[in-house]
Amino acid sequence: MSATQIVGDTLALKVNKKELIADGVMYLELVDPKGENLPKFTAGAHIDIQLPNGLIRPYSLCGSSADRKAYELGVLLETNGRGGSKSVHEEIVLGAKLRISHPKNHFPLTAAKHSVLFAGGIGITPILSMAQSLSDEAASFEMHYCSRSRSRTAFVERISASPFSSKVQFHFDDGAEEQKLKASEILKNTDPTTHIYVCGPKGFMDHVIQTAKDLDWPETQIHFEFFKSEPIVKDDDGSFEVEYRPTGLVLRVPADMTVAQALIDAGVDVPLSCEQGICGTCVMQVVDGDPDHRDVCLSDEDKDLRKMFTPCCSRAQSPKLVLDLSQ
Ligand code: FES
Repeated sequence: MSATQIVGDTLALKVNKKELIADGVMYLELVDPKGENLPKFTAGAHIDIQLPNGLIRPYSLCGSSADRKAYELGVLLETNGRGGSKSVHEEIVLGAKLRISHPKNHFPLTAAKHSVLFAGGIGITPILSMAQSLSDEAASFEMHYCSRSRSRTAFVERISASPFSSKVQFHFDDGAEEQKLKASEILKNTDPTTHIYVCGPKGFMDHVIQTAKDLDWPETQIHFEFFKSEPIVKDDDGSFEVEYRPTGLVLRVPADMTVAQALIDAGVDVPLSCEQGICGTCVMQVVDGDPDHRDVCLSDEDKDLRKMFTPCCSRAQSPKLVLDLSQ
């Protein structure tokens, strides 16, 4: 199941650069074909791209938010993925026009006395933009960038040549023991008002987030964005009813179908991107009913409030859910 086009206003941008910058990581620079300024974004933002193979996928912007002339991306080839990264690597060509969404940010920076940025692998993309933004503002921060090996590490030269290079530590899985990431030591020696930002593979994120929680870090100071999520299927998943408030449409969602799929089949435009509960593009408002949250993009606090819902993956605990457009 996929949406066939990006819902809402889009931009048509030209692929100005395409370059392999590390093992499996493709760099893209997108510009306005007439050289106009691009819409502003803030560090941590992503765009949805309509790919040549028809999929829509979200990719974080890794460049400086002060640069209005280009959007920069780094895309890791996922050999066992669903085809999005393969299309970026193999089908997008230099000079091609791509239809993209305006930037959206579900992973913004918060003003703090100090920030610690943790990037794992391709999770560097939003984190790099954050580092540039904090550096531009002369804010206090440090960054830890973990990767399997030097050859798989994107943006090393850019980081090493940046004004914030002294704030960055690289941690390679195949390197010496003493340079490996020790999240608990880093956090134990950090001011407790510090905000933490984490992006990378699930195991890496779980480790850093759990370390922070074990050290009683307040959840409001732990910010994260997943790249991938495994679908949750429960043995007792059944059907339930959904009322879509904007049109009054009422439909039954079978056990083997998502709410988004059922709505799209009934003619509703559902904005989709990751389709894995990661990006927040599809979020709707819950007017009535009890959601069974299966995403990783809503905070625990938001899930407890039961007012937001991700139709691409979440289901219902009550016999009926009444949903409205996101506010
Ligand atoms: Fe990304 Fe639903 S489409 S969270």
